[in-house]
Amino acid sequence: MTSFLKDHPSTHSCGALRDSDIGAEVCLTGWVNNRRDHGGCVFVDLRDREGLTQVVFDPSIDQSAFDRAGDLRNEFCIGVVGKVASRGGQGNPNMQTGSIEVQVKQLELFSKSETPPFAIEDGIETNEALRLKYRYLDLRRPELQKKLRVRSKATQSVRRYLAENGFDEIETPFMVKYTPGGARNFVVPSRLNPGSFYALAESPQIYKQLLMVSGFERYFQVTRCFRDEDLRQDRQPEFTQIDIEMSFLTEGPLQTMIEGMLAKVWKDALDIDIPTPFLRMSYEEAMRRFGCDKPDLRLDLELCEVTEPARESGFKVFENAISQGAIVKCLRLPDGDKLSRSVLDGLTAFAKPYGVAGVAFARVQEDMSWKAPFAKAFSDEARNAVNDIAGALAGDVLLFVADKPKKANTCMSAIRLHMGEKLGLTRVGEYKFMWLTDPPLFEYAEAEGKWVSSHHPFTSPRPEDEDKLISDPEHVLARAYDVVLNGVELGGGSIRIHRADLQSKVFDALGISKAEAQQKFGFLLEAFQYGPPPHGGIALGLDRLAMLMTGAQSLRDVLAFPKTQKGTDLMSSAPTPVDKKQLTELYIQNTELPAKEG
Ligand code: AMO
Repeated sequence: MTSFLKDHPSTHSCGALRDSDIGAEVCLTGWVNNRRDHGGCVFVDLRDREGLTQVVFDPSIDQSAFDRAGDLRNEFCIGVVGKVASRGGQGNPNMQTGSIEVQVKQLELFSKSETPPFAIEDGIETNEALRLKYRYLDLRRPELQKKLRVRSKATQSVRRYLAENGFDEIETPFMVKYTPGGARNFVVPSRLNPGSFYALAESPQIYKQLLMVSGFERYFQVTRCFRDEDLRQDRQPEFTQIDIEMSFLTEGPLQTMIEGMLAKVWKDALDIDIPTPFLRMSYEEAMRRFGCDKPDLRLDLELCEVTEPARESGFKVFENAISQGAIVKCLRLPDGDKLSRSVLDGLTAFAKPYGVAGVAFARVQEDMSWKAPFAKAFSDEARNAVNDIAGALAGDVLLFVADKPKKANTCMSAIRLHMGEKLGLTRVGEYKFMWLTDPPLFEYAEAEGKWVSSHHPFTSPRPEDEDKLISDPEHVLARAYDVVLNGVELGGGSIRIHRADLQSKVFDALGISKAEAQQKFGFLLEAFQYGPPPHGGIALGLDRLAMLMTGAQSLRDVLAFPKTQKGTDLMSSAPTPVDKKQLTELYIQNTELPAKEG
């Protein structure tokens, strides 16, 4: 076997040979994609990561290879030596190498394979659980190989770009100090310090700021982060960030640097030119026009607010809701007359999980009056004002949701995306980047009854808002920004606080006492007493980036070995219980497990 590879290192990949190679002696290695016996010959499509090549075992060329070829089965791993020949009129135009074949004179069987539990080909219907159990076979499928290789190209491109721009790649610890009350951490018991635990880093945030204090100026790391949160299609418990921090700069140059990086990544990995600079939109504008902080700009539909005309419209449902603090958001659906009543009625069920009472709709008639159950209740004046604000035209449908601002926006934003898809208005294949800027520094946590950081407590407020930190925290905006692509938050970052007086003010606003701040972030605050530079940074989710670049539906498709929605690895069965002996050694007590469901 070894001698085969030594004598015949593979000369070409299975996607390489063309007419110009006819007559050449070649050596190919790979997996049997399929085998067909006919006309006294055995035909095998040999597959490697670059493609397929037809190889032919003809007894008149080599009897021994032909005899053994009869035993080949799908997924056997083999090597062949042979001559490239034309397939003449028998070619396969759907195959890159379809005009040639290799006539085998030597066959080497590297290893046999059991029958795989599913076909190794694209577009299979097999359930995902089975594919995840046999992930190493799933990963043989060209579709997944392509996605992971795009991701690899993107990562290499990021590294090249940042190195060219003077960034140092510095690793920071995974096992870090546990901070109570933060995001849910995975914890790691310390055998050498009985009863104490590390946390797995949810991000290198504090360390990268410390590296700025140390004077590195431009840091990056492509690093794994760990978060024990509820999982969704765009979340994994361990995921990768392209983590960046820079000193002596403001938002503008930092964003330009990131735009340059993304443009290079798209060019290198997909050969697509993306226009820069990206659109910049404030949080306030995004909420107003799209109802969310990560609008999908591949869709031109926009929301508007019609609370004012609805306030005294005569329509009691809206009037009562508004008197209790609701706003009325409206979505204009151009040519909505194409939409059936059942689709529009169905929106109430669609909206239910968002906790709103219902979705009202009106069809705009030729004379700009409305066809709607509540049309009569609405005064002409109010209706005309709504039509004006929404820019309504005859034939449109207007959708309305009246609820508290957060609910109304969240629900209408989801309806916007839903209708965009239903009406085929979301432009597939486009990449619409934008920066979301000036978000609120704090958000009110109803459950805790206090203001908490929207991002993290080291995010700088805008200088003009510093005075409002204590008196009017709701209206303090942050020097923070997210980069958004096609409705997905690709990354987020901020200019950090580097002044001790400002930091304590922010802690005060958050109700974090000196003692608590000291206990949680003491080492960072101490470091900040030694000449911290002005600095800021960002982290981009590499998994999300790869998902969007490859058009994948889930992060799982761009991770070699992903976890399920329940955080399990179906291949290795992790997580599993740990031996009692080990728990004892770690001073971890066994507590009763909850009874298993069912
Ligand atoms: P943030 O928490 O916004 O910021 O994370 C930055 C980016 O990381 C990605 N991301 C995830 N990807 C997959 N699965 C997850 N569970 C997950 N969580 C986050 C997203 C997100 O935009 N330290 C700050 C950054 C900074 O301020 O520099 C941070 O971690 O793409």
